[in-house]
Amino acid sequence: MLSIGVDIGGTKIAAGVVDEAGEIIAATTRSTPATDAVLIEAAVADAVAELRSAHDVVGVGVGAAGFVAADRRTVRFSANLAWREHALAEELERLTGLPVVVENDANAAGWAEYRFGAATEARHMLMMTVGTGLGGAVVLDGNLLRGSGGFAGEVAHMTAVPDGQWCGCGLRGCLEQYTAGTALVRAAKRRAATGDPLLGRLVQAAGGDRKAIDGPLITRLAQQGDEGAVELIAEIGTWLGRGVASIAALLDPEVVVVGGGVSAAGELLLAPARAAYAEHLTARGHRALADFVPAQMGNRAGIVGAADLAR
Ligand code: BGC
Ligand code: NA
Ligand code: ZN
Repeated sequence: MLSIGVDIGGTKIAAGVVDEAGEIIAATTRSTPATDAVLIEAAVADAVAELRSAHDVVGVGVGAAGFVAADRRTVRFSANLAWREHALAEELERLTGLPVVVENDANAAGWAEYRFGAATEARHMLMMTVGTGLGGAVVLDGNLLRGSGGFAGEVAHMTAVPDGQWCGCGLRGCLEQYTAGTALVRAAKRRAATGDPLLGRLVQAAGGDRKAIDGPLITRLAQQGDEGAVELIAEIGTWLGRGVASIAALLDPEVVVVGGGVSAAGELLLAPARAAYAEHLTARGHRALADFVPAQMGNRAGIVGAADLAR
């Protein structure tokens, strides 16, 4: 039985035909048309049409960055995109003629890591996707946690700093404002604006324009050993570890899978995260530390997880 998985990202829509073993047997991409819901749906439908012309599929699973209702059809709210009470599944069913299931993007990625990737040995997994936003997925006793409204695992909007930075969700001090791509870039620009000498190379690499600094550039420089960039990634990692320690007080995961664009920094992100987690974990010394492991499925996770959850 084949199904199509679609990952709607901020810059790219990635779609693939996925088999029951989690293998992508055909794939295609479209660029994401700004934040216009109608154009996004047209692009998704176009990608689906291309894939199904060559493959017999039973349905479509879509990963969306936002609060997806428990019926897995409606995006009720998105902190970083324009969706408000948006009937995404219905629209896509109308355009494609196939059954459509919508999932939170991080839940889809986390499910893929649990089923086929970094957490196949685990029963209790926390996945953190550190991308433009901060996503979460929780698997406890083998079940993906959904909650009463479908909104369980919204780790981005746990309070990290009371009355801290404003967040796109309408609250202040959310964890996403301290550990995600947007936080990384904001910190870099602010520090660069002070003339911080540690950020000199980064500004230079951005063509001398500190406003042109972006996440991939910071990661690349960090990988080259630039001290300022390493420090910026470490700061994100430290917040990540603190956040996970709080989450662990509630959920006690055995493994923490870290994915998303910023996780390309590898150990530069994971090592400070591990250290901060160990430091802030309750009952430390009297419990096993969860393993922090990199995601294995890379940018395929969203497609594979959404397709698997649609079956
Ligand atoms: C949203 C989540 C989403 C995450 C990653 C957060 O801001 O609230 O729904 O999973 O970003 O895209
Ligand atoms: Na989630
Ligand atoms: Zn928030």
